[in-house]
Amino acid sequence: MFRVLGISDHFISGAAVVEDGRITTAINEERLARKKMLMGFPRQSIAKVLELASVNSEDLDYVAVASEWGHFLNKPVEVDAGVFAIDEGFIKNLFFSVGSKLSFLRSKVPILEPLYYQLRQPVFARRRNQVRKVLRDEFGIRCPIEFVSHHHAHAASAYYGSGFDDALVATLDASGDGHSSHIYEVNNGEWKHLHSVPSFDSLGSYYATVTHICGFTAGKHEGKITGLAAYGKPAYRDIIDRFIRYQEGTMVNVGNAFRAAAVHKLEAALPKNWSKEDLASTIQQASEEICSKYVEYWLKKTGQRNVALAGGVVANVRINQHIHELPEVDSVFVFPAMADEGLAAGAALLLTVEKQPENRMHGKKCFDHVYLGPEFSDREVADALESAGIEFREMDQPETEIARLISEGYVVARVNGRMEYGPRALGNRSILYRPDDPSVNNWLNDRLKRTEFMPFAPSTLAEDAHRSYLGLRGCNDTARFMTITFDCTEEMKKTCSGVVHIDGTARPQLVSEADNPSYYRIIKEFKRLTGVSSIVNTSFNIHEEPIVCTPQEAVRAFQDGHLDVLAIGPFLAKNAEADSRVRATSNRKIKTSS
Ligand SMILES: [Fe+2]
Repeated sequence: MFRVLGISDHFISGAAVVEDGRITTAINEERLARKKMLMGFPRQSIAKVLELASVNSEDLDYVAVASEWGHFLNKPVEVDAGVFAIDEGFIKNLFFSVGSKLSFLRSKVPILEPLYYQLRQPVFARRRNQVRKVLRDEFGIRCPIEFVSHHHAHAASAYYGSGFDDALVATLDASGDGHSSHIYEVNNGEWKHLHSVPSFDSLGSYYATVTHICGFTAGKHEGKITGLAAYGKPAYRDIIDRFIRYQEGTMVNVGNAFRAAAVHKLEAALPKNWSKEDLASTIQQASEEICSKYVEYWLKKTGQRNVALAGGVVANVRINQHIHELPEVDSVFVFPAMADEGLAAGAALLLTVEKQPENRMHGKKCFDHVYLGPEFSDREVADALESAGIEFREMDQPETEIARLISEGYVVARVNGRMEYGPRALGNRSILYRPDDPSVNNWLNDRLKRTEFMPFAPSTLAEDAHRSYLGLRGCNDTARFMTITFDCTEEMKKTCSGVVHIDGTARPQLVSEADNPSYYRIIKEFKRLTGVSSIVNTSFNIHEEPIVCTPQEAVRAFQDGHLDVLAIGPFLAKNAEADSRVRATSNRKIKTSS
């Protein structure tokens, strides 16, 4: 067995174990430290993945650390201050602030950018030494430790996750190792690096700039902008075009501004009474166009027809839909942990291929599902419920009972099996509800103390996907992970108005029995009761916290969120007010077919 521990130690840090080219366990520090999108050295994740994989430090053949550059963040910090204001220490903040102020000089004085990175080299070297020291001293790791390129790690997750033999691999993010995008052509596992976009010319950074200007946290709340976009018009396109633009196979920061300077310049360019919705709509439209033209250029150049994607920008499900709809594209795959939360797995995959070239990894997927986190025994679950003083009982047939409760209008928080890797809850740490109530987005988000403009997503029986979504061709695999939107059929719009966006799209999770037998049975039974093949699936978390991991966290979120039912493993607990709430809204209850 060839075992590689993958680590990412910066944004949404985490760890993964890859054994003989397959991801067997993976987790991000946020889920263990209970702070959303935590950045910094992932001590808890490393210990957890080794424990889950039953791997001792002496069993490891290599450690792969994502990103060659960056500074050492010994103590994880929250991203809540946003990427523009985060306190990462005096020196780094000074570099960013000076870099941002001088960014307008970049094209006039070309030496500035290499000089900027050159000056930071001692910081990068210090990080590499510190990472090695911590792994040696605190984890007893003696095997070789190697640092791999940020974008190559993203690309490896996309390609080896896709199962494609031949593909165009595109990475798109705000920044990593001095770049915001890489393009590769891969044929039967042979990699060719075709193009890089510097961090300065970053579409992701401009999207973050808009997120910040709209009053949200840059680097964290970009999804809110994607949702908000559907409520506005792209009224400021002439302005955004003066900042970031597609040009001949690349992207160019024509605004010549970076970070804080970009914020000031863009704010100054906007009209007095600018609207958030219109600005969101503008950056979304520009991003969809820039990304699809960019990918199209490289598809035409290479003749490839399969596209594998990773990086924070492709967390944008609408951009992915536009790429999929290009006439040059047959298939699209988006790695489910697409942003930096997926780097640990990507780095470990990349090093596996490099060090064990005889292990043929292309053409077969490096994972079957994303249920790669911790799970808990029935005893642990019962203990958590008992110690919280919650009344509960064991269900005879959990899936049948859960489906019945959903069909009757109860909000069911479901915790079962291993926790998901990546940003989406896919049935094991999910809040489930019937799909026909268009008001659910408002009242349930209120109850969960969340602000969202994206509608909830549907989980749909894979075999009925064609009845619900248009243009699935070449996307069935990636649609298992809620990574892409589709236009909905009229039937879907009619029966599932709670999960269809005002632009007529939805971002589904297609569920098959092989992926998640228990979750599949719940939806199948729901269909038997109602004739509808989809249910609402939103992540089980409250108020800006990460998705729940342990039974204790599930119990607390159930209580804080005033949810109706907690179905955790084989046990069921009901909120005392659930029956009266459901009775009060029973006029909106889904029609049953039986
Ligand atoms: Fe990245």
